[in-house]
Amino acid sequence: MSVQSKPRVDTGPREEVRFPADFTWGMATASYQIEGAVAEDGRTPSIWDTFSSIPGAVLGGDTGEVACDHYHRMPADVDLLADLGATSYRFSVAWPRVRPDAGPANAAGLAFYDRLVDKLLERGIAPWLTLYHWDLPQVLEDAGGWTNRDTAHRFVEYAVSVHEALGDRVPTWTTLNEPFCSSLLGYTAGHHAPGRQEGAAGLVAAHHLLLAHGLATTELRSRGADRLGLSLNLTVPDPSDPSDPVDVDAARRIDALHNRLFLDPIFRGSYPADLLDDTGGLLWQGHDWYDVVRDGDLAAIAAPIDVLGVNYYHGNEVSGHPRTDVVGISADHPDRVALSPFVGSEHVTFPSRGLPVTAMGWEIQPDGLHRLLRRLHDDYPHLPIHLTETGAAFDDRVDEHGDVHDPDRIAFLDSYLRAVHLAIEEGVDVRGFYQWSFLDNFEWAFGYAKRFGLVHVDYATQARTPKSSAHWYADLARTGILPA
Ligand code: NOJ
Repeated sequence: MSVQSKPRVDTGPREEVRFPADFTWGMATASYQIEGAVAEDGRTPSIWDTFSSIPGAVLGGDTGEVACDHYHRMPADVDLLADLGATSYRFSVAWPRVRPDAGPANAAGLAFYDRLVDKLLERGIAPWLTLYHWDLPQVLEDAGGWTNRDTAHRFVEYAVSVHEALGDRVPTWTTLNEPFCSSLLGYTAGHHAPGRQEGAAGLVAAHHLLLAHGLATTELRSRGADRLGLSLNLTVPDPSDPSDPVDVDAARRIDALHNRLFLDPIFRGSYPADLLDDTGGLLWQGHDWYDVVRDGDLAAIAAPIDVLGVNYYHGNEVSGHPRTDVVGISADHPDRVALSPFVGSEHVTFPSRGLPVTAMGWEIQPDGLHRLLRRLHDDYPHLPIHLTETGAAFDDRVDEHGDVHDPDRIAFLDSYLRAVHLAIEEGVDVRGFYQWSFLDNFEWAFGYAKRFGLVHVDYATQARTPKSSAHWYADLARTGILPA
């Protein structure tokens, strides 16, 4: 992976930019990445507890056992959020706290989120709740996980338990975070929990995740929820050579698998025809994977939503030819090989465009965000959009004065926010921005090696140190102005 420690961002001519007065300035986290306390108050293991305990699955053998110890430090963490000017906080609920062993609701597990929501409201921060940010109860995985249709029904029961406890105080409910990752990375590539490398199982899992989303959306709406949606990690694939049909086809396949596999059923009630052509004949348990789709499923998935969450970090140049000058995961990475049946070939690669990259090796590409927002506006129904995640990992260090200076993160956020502002000026209805992440945390297969936080966490002492970007973001949240 190519890592550039001092990325430059071409900010071009800069003007002062003013966001609407009611724009939401949020920060985001997820349960398994920050909470720790994995065996407390009745919580049972999730697939990430199991996966991270497998030697070699997570960098450094890291697990979420302690993470940021947020479960015990929640009140002080919310005070810090408030001090840093967040007007909203996007967090997720851990399913195995609420319905351990997929059994009845667990009052002790729910009580944590009850206290969290009260504390947020006390500090004037609007809660934004995500029901599923990847920590499936292990007991459900033992029964097949997301390849088992029944998991979608268990998800609805869980969603109802959370809504019964918190529905009176939480205005915004999102069902799933990034189903691309929890399906294809978990069940096809095996790079995420549950670590299964079972070909078309990823598409089966995607369908059942979408079904879970649709069924829960309808159920929660019938119970009075009126701001419902989900967060998709969308990308912007640009063919290396737009006049080369091989590159154009490779970019189309990435778009189908990453974007339209989720956008089309939700907004159009159908899977993309080209994706079905590409994947028809891929077998799951001896049958075409699409046989898991039953009559009525697509109508259930297309249940109307009120808000679309967009998670955007970067797009990619895409080539259908063998290349070695790639960004992100390398040409022979198991993910790429595992996904090759879906993208037509192992040769589908992401060549470097020479752009600066973050510590993840991800290109810094604000124009992609602008183009993505325009595309959503042009191709799909006009819904309020919230950027429910963007941010960057850098190799942040505490200096001899106890400070963390992260000008690269400030430049990153400035450039991505300018892209959002441009889209708003052009008529795209973007209402808010959630920086990923409030705290440095457990970055999935990368463990604690990658720091995305506005707040630095010393994992040995659990000391929190707001980075210079946190103070910059606090000013922005207060003024709504990006200076010239
Ligand atoms: C996507 C995920 O939602 C979040 O959990 C993850 O840490 C960030 N993006 C960064 O990879």
